[in-house]
Amino acid sequence: MQTAKRLEGIGEYYFSTKLREIEELNKQGKNIINLGIGSPDLPPQPEVIKTLQEESAKPNVHAYQGYKGSPVLRGAISSWYKTWYRAELNPDTEILPLIGSKEGIMHICMTYLNEGDEALIPNPGYPTYTSAVKLAGGTPIPYVLTEGNHWEPDFEALEQRDLSKVKLMWVNYPQMPTGQLPSAGLFKKLVAFGKKHGILICHDNPYSFILNDAPASLLAVEGAKEVVIELNSLSKSQNMAGWRVGMLCAAKERIDEVLRFKSNMDSGMFLPVQLAAAKALMAGKEWYDSVNAVYRQRRDKVVHLLQLLDCRFSTEQAGMFMWAKIPAKYKSGYALSDAILYNAAVFITPGGIFGSAGDDYIRVSLCSAEAKLQESIDRVKTFLKQ
Ligand SMILES: Cc1ncc(COP(=O)(O)O)c(C=O)c1O
Repeated sequence: MQTAKRLEGIGEYYFSTKLREIEELNKQGKNIINLGIGSPDLPPQPEVIKTLQEESAKPNVHAYQGYKGSPVLRGAISSWYKTWYRAELNPDTEILPLIGSKEGIMHICMTYLNEGDEALIPNPGYPTYTSAVKLAGGTPIPYVLTEGNHWEPDFEALEQRDLSKVKLMWVNYPQMPTGQLPSAGLFKKLVAFGKKHGILICHDNPYSFILNDAPASLLAVEGAKEVVIELNSLSKSQNMAGWRVGMLCAAKERIDEVLRFKSNMDSGMFLPVQLAAAKALMAGKEWYDSVNAVYRQRRDKVVHLLQLLDCRFSTEQAGMFMWAKIPAKYKSGYALSDAILYNAAVFITPGGIFGSAGDDYIRVSLCSAEAKLQESIDRVKTFLKQ
């Protein structure tokens, strides 16, 4: 069957192909340790599960839900933004709960991009930005992030391009895959850039609580709502990736615009999931500290693994990965990843899947127990001795 034109140039998501290969290797008895995907292995808080259990046992919670989400969840998101990010959001008009933030990326592109419109995409960055822009008929324009510029946009270089067709700019701090935290002035510069050129700045913010004591929102910048949409998620910070709960936060006009698309695509989430998500957002600092204590110990192991591999990296990274530069003896991150996969039965993500600027890097996930990370270290040691 001929697929639609919009799928031209859109491949299967890298991880879905790679996971199939890993499955094949496992069938051959290889027992691969997968340090690729950032899916938290720790559970959500116990009260969250209890809320889901209790609420779903009620007889009157099983109907379709409103397109704008439960007021309880929107209220909890508004309080969460105020408490942690010092950003004021009207729970009735400026918050749209999502079935995960990934769908929000698509909704934004479908809402704003016409054929021929351009969207600035970070290289390296989350691959979904590019595919969503293409699927919506827009043209992705990569902007390169470099280690030398702290993985932040080079605004001078951007100013020199023709920006007349650029409608959106995707940004994401803490940055995935580089783990870079935003520098003090970055968010203000982004808002000013958006205002100057009439570009909607789309900030994807799912990692701000992981290995980071100062969560930050682009919406906390004065005047940001004129040009910013922010996506956020419970997948990483609340250990709820499989629950599919995210949010889109912006001025009322943007929420209404996106809702015109989204309400034709899907319907409201299961109410008990929304109520449990609201509970999750009420967690205090101790919860985030307890999760981060686990990630810190794992990071020590990953540091050891990366040192064994002669990689170079910053220890100031936030988020649930370690991003590292490969040594010159490997042609690319792909070569290192394959060498480790086929010789040590450990899978590490090659940085090149996040864009050409990631070619000489690898990304290691912190979503495996310490014992697994130790086992990876042992396997890599054995391989290196051969
Ligand atoms: C940068 C980035 N944005 C968004 C997402 C999607 O998260 P969600 O589970 O909320 O759809 C991910 C998930 O890996 C991510 O890395």
